[in-house]
Amino acid sequence: MTKFNLQNIVRQHILTLAPYSSARDEYTGKEGIFLDANENPLGSVTPEDWNRYPDPYQSDSKDKIAFIKSCRPSQIFLGNGSDEPIDLIIRLTCEPKEDNIIILPPTYGMYEVSANVNNIEIQKIPLTTEYQLDTEKIIASINSKTKLIFICSPNNPTGNLIDRKAILKIIENFQQGIVIIDEAYNDFSDEPSFIPELDNFQNVIVLQTFSKAWGLASLRLGMAFGGEELIKLLNKIKYPYNINGLTQRALLENIHNIDFMHDSVKKLNQNREKVIFELKKLPYVLNIYPSDANFLLVKFTEAKKIFEYLIQQKVIVRDRSKVILCDDSLRISIGTEEENHILINLLNQYKPL
Ligand SMILES: Cc1ncc(COP(=O)(O)O)c(C=O)c1O
Repeated sequence: MTKFNLQNIVRQHILTLAPYSSARDEYTGKEGIFLDANENPLGSVTPEDWNRYPDPYQSDSKDKIAFIKSCRPSQIFLGNGSDEPIDLIIRLTCEPKEDNIIILPPTYGMYEVSANVNNIEIQKIPLTTEYQLDTEKIIASINSKTKLIFICSPNNPTGNLIDRKAILKIIENFQQGIVIIDEAYNDFSDEPSFIPELDNFQNVIVLQTFSKAWGLASLRLGMAFGGEELIKLLNKIKYPYNINGLTQRALLENIHNIDFMHDSVKKLNQNREKVIFELKKLPYVLNIYPSDANFLLVKFTEAKKIFEYLIQQKVIVRDRSKVILCDDSLRISIGTEEENHILINLLNQYKPL
């Protein structure tokens, strides 16, 4: 079997290109008179000063994240949401109109969108009807131009965990490229992350995000964890100051408050079980799929009509009924107790036309 060789996976011109060298790259000291970046030395239009460019490599943030995730700072890439590394990993490895990626629908939509933006062929190997990997088909569809396989666990929009052994089988059988394991919802599950396994698998990148359990969706902070050489290459092609100063500061000042995250997970998981209990009583609910995330995929007798009825009442859920293997299904995020109560009351009052 092919041995993993990063040099063969990365687009050749990226290996040799000279990255932009920012002012904050060239002088990394914190003291001095800074006349090197054309900033406004007088301050900012805002009450707080944001006039200086932020740390391009977010060293302090990575030190803290590494501590929480039990990995090395050099294994971490930070992005403007995890959507940024999704796009960068594709750009790093896939030659437009030549290479291909494998995605496993129904799954998170950005893998497909980013591949399309970059003009990269997509091979779609649907999940099984139990929303698990069709490992044999995935392995059979790998060809010499396949660079990436995206696996989302817990999966969006279905909510379930993907069987770990099946993921391991894909990792073992795909040494010619990279398996991206998107763990955006891992905080809500008891499943161990793949981050501690990274030293065993050079061909794996793990994605996580501060947008979900940490409640920081608006700050846009996503993480990619991987081998040091891979992370260096992602840093080479990113925008120089991709994580803004406000985000870095908010993280540094608050990341110690990990209890908030754990409490949120506990409450939202309890709320999820209550919503399931109530949904089960409704005659229009055909199936509630098992979820290890902060949302539920629910199959209704007439999803589209219920979706529109809820919108009229200003309750907005996600219509997934046109998505493969999600016929007549809506994806419902778990809200506060009050929000869930309103949702359930509305569904109780729903009358089919
Ligand atoms: C599976 C999955 N991955 C990644 C993301 C992107 O998260 P963000 O860009 O906010 O970090 C989402 C957002 O919904 C998601 O569901």
